[in-house]
Order: sequence, then structure tokens, then C-alpha cells
Amino acid sequence: MEQYVIKGGVPLSGEVTIGGAKNAALPILAASVMTDETVEIENVPDVRDTQVLMQAIESIGVTVVRTGTNTVKINAARARNHSIENESIKKIRASYYLIGALLGKYKSAGVPLPGGCNIGLRPIDQHIKGFSALGADVDINHGIFTARADRLSGAHIYLDVVSVGATINVMMAAAMAEGKTTIENAAREPHVVDLANFLNSMGASIRGAGTDVIRIKGVQKLHGTRYAIIPDQIEAGTFMMAAAATHGDITIKNVIPKHLESISAKLAEIGCQIRESDDMVRVSATKRLNATHVKTLPYPGFPTDLQPQITTALSLASGISIVTESIFENRFKYVDELTKMGAVIKVEGSTAIVSGREQLTGAQIVAPDLRAGAALVIAGLMAEGISTVSNINYVERGYEDFPGKLRALGAQIEKVEEERELQKFRLKYA
Ligand code: EPZ
Repeated sequence: MEQYVIKGGVPLSGEVTIGGAKNAALPILAASVMTDETVEIENVPDVRDTQVLMQAIESIGVTVVRTGTNTVKINAARARNHSIENESIKKIRASYYLIGALLGKYKSAGVPLPGGCNIGLRPIDQHIKGFSALGADVDINHGIFTARADRLSGAHIYLDVVSVGATINVMMAAAMAEGKTTIENAAREPHVVDLANFLNSMGASIRGAGTDVIRIKGVQKLHGTRYAIIPDQIEAGTFMMAAAATHGDITIKNVIPKHLESISAKLAEIGCQIRESDDMVRVSATKRLNATHVKTLPYPGFPTDLQPQITTALSLASGISIVTESIFENRFKYVDELTKMGAVIKVEGSTAIVSGREQLTGAQIVAPDLRAGAALVIAGLMAEGISTVSNINYVERGYEDFPGKLRALGAQIEKVEEERELQKFRLKYA
């Protein structure tokens, strides 16, 4: 069984370079099938989710050529059909971005219903509402989500909840609909803006991305482009949390500091020093962190994808912290694992009450989802002694070479497969 083994207690220090944003790469890869010309994408993170999506795109006859670890060329001129049958696609949430992309281009799409991290109910009613408003017939049969239209027509769409996925999906389909579409109550996340910029670089006409009203003028055809994906806000935030949690000093390079504002502000509030320049942020923590209150919100609020990481850091803060999760109702499953390490956290509904301890101790813990997995690795780095984190396939869905990047900051962490390797690590760090 693959797992990470970690000897904690070392403050992390040094420099780390952030990769491209997974949650921007996924819709951008999907949208690449919307032209018959070649699209070249740079800064694609080499993680499980992007690999699975590229395989699914290839499975319908699209040419996908990896020209480097983080660059890819996509050409959809020979796409055979508009239904994805590739089984592995069910494992990733972003599979449904192919509906928006294929529906926009071919007016017909079929994709197995999305899977993804088990972090609570993940309805798709807003996606359906958006596609229907554009004139598509949407159906779910035998686990396949299909959407078809003779023609797509622009519409005025008010999303009932701020949804990243629905905003992105509707934006893709509307980019090639006839006439004008307005999406109100749109998500403002950096990856929504990145997709809009990407589509515009292919000839789309999308204005207002990054605000809560997005206006789209449909075009008949999109063309090839060359585009570099923005840095990953959540990977950067994870390393910021790791610096704070281990009382370290990390310079995080290749970031957009503006995207990290809610995170920097919260870390400053709990006693970290934050220094920012054009494309980097340095986080250091010299003393015990202070307790605080955190509430997750859509961007520009504090991201739900960093909630497990900050809760973990706060488990050693001085005083009682209150963390409220307002986006996904089942995102505290990792708390049981932290408890095994000595954390004192009580979950009541969507709130975790964290009583800061002096010390965590190493334990055998299991990652329940992607971001929680990263948080448990941070817990292992904070704890006294040795921890193992299993189910690391979750972590590999969204972090490129997480153990390698941590080791470069002084962390004692290895990915091991066999008991023998685990024992070797134990002997080395006993
Ligand atoms: C995206 O998920 C991200 N995934 C998630 O990151 C992230 O946690 C989430 O946005 C919030 O920022 C990808 O980008 C692939 P939503 P998404 O639609 O699009 C409700 C990670 O770890 N809702 O913004 O699925 C929903 O239940 C992942 O990288 C509806 O009610 O999230 C939730 O409460 C995990 N109806 C809220 O909206 C809908 O039709 C926000 O969900 C759609 C959503």
C-alpha cells in the first residue's frame, strides 16, 4: 500500500515554486476541444486529475501530445464522437466540464456522472438550469449525463448558488451559442477568470469574469491558441499553512499575491509575518500561533480548499478557534484522524471548535479527500515522532510531487510502498 511516512518536528524553510492551478487546468483542457485548430497549454500541473481528463479527451479521438512535463498540445479536428465512455473519468469531478465544452462546439455531449472528492452533497442542478436556459435538452440516464440542442441561444441566467462548476460550464456552452448570455451571481474564483481569458484568446467574447456578472457574446468558431495557466492558489496556500504550522520560514515563488489575500490576512492575524513582492510571498512564524475564527466563503473569501489545512495549523494555536465551513457540509472528516494525533476538536454541524494543544503526536492516519490529505501531511510535519498517511492517491490528484517539494524545504517525508521501506525510514529517523 502506498503511503507517506513522515518524521515531524522540523520547521520548514527555504523556497518552493508553485505549479499551474489544477482547477484552472481542468476546464482549460476541456475547452481545448472547442476548436479544430491546435491549442498549446503551458503550466499544466502533472497531477492525477489532469492525467485522467487528458485520457478521457483522447478517448474520443482528440490528439493530446505531452510536449513536456507541464506542456501539452491538443488538436480536436479528428474528434470521433461527443460521448465520453472512458470509465476512469467517473473518478474526477471535472469530467462534467466536457459537457459544457462538447455541447458548445457540437451541440451534443454525453459524460458519465461526475465523481470526485467525497466532501458532501455535490448537486448539479445549476449546471442543468444553465444548459436548459441555453436551449439544451438535458437528461440523466443510467448514470450518463447528456445534453443536446438543435441550436443554443444566449439567455439571461441567474445562478441560485455561487457555483464555480456551473459558472464555468455555462460560460463554455454560451461562448458558442447564438447571441448574448448573461450569468448573474457568477463565481469570481481566479480559475473562472483564467478560463475566460483562455476562451477569449481562442476568439470568444467574454466580459466581466472576476465579477458576479459575466457577459458572453456567442461566436460561431474558436481558433487555436497558446496559453499559460495561472499559478495554483491552493497549492500556494497549502505551503503558506505548512510554514505557519511548522513555525518555519518559506518563500513561495510563482504566485499571484492578490489571489492569496484572504490567506495572507488570516495568517498575519494569527501571528505570522507575511512579506509579498510581485510574484512571491514569504511566510514565517517565530512563535506559537494565536487562535482565531475562520469562515469559508466563495472567492474572495477564505477558500474551502484550505479549510482542513488551517484547522490543522490551529490545532496547536494558543486558545480556542472556531472554523465554519459554509460551502461543503462534509468537509470535517479528517478531524477524526487529527484526534488520533492528540488534537482536541469538536465538530458541531458546519462548525469545528478547535482547542489548541501544546503538541501533536505521530499516528497512522488515513486521508479522506484531497485537501484533507494535504492537511494530514502538515499534521504529520507538526507532530512529534513518526506518522503514516495512507490513501495518498487523493493527495496525488491535486499536488505535483508534494513529498519532493516538502523535502526540499527540510521535511523528513518519503513515499513508501512496502513494509520494508517503512521500517528503513523508521530506523533512519529513530
Ligand atoms: C470547485 O468544485 C472545485 N473543484 C473544488 O475544489 C472547490 O472546493 C469548489 O469549487 C469551491 O471552491 C474544481 O474546480 C474541479 P461549486 P465545484 O459548484 O465546482 C453547491 C479541490 O479540492 N452547488 O462551486 O464542484 C455545492 O453543493 C476541489 O480541488 C449546488 O447547489 O463547487 C456547494 O455547496 C474539491 N448546485 C456550492 O454550490 C450546483 O449545481 C459550491 O460548489 C452546483 C453547486
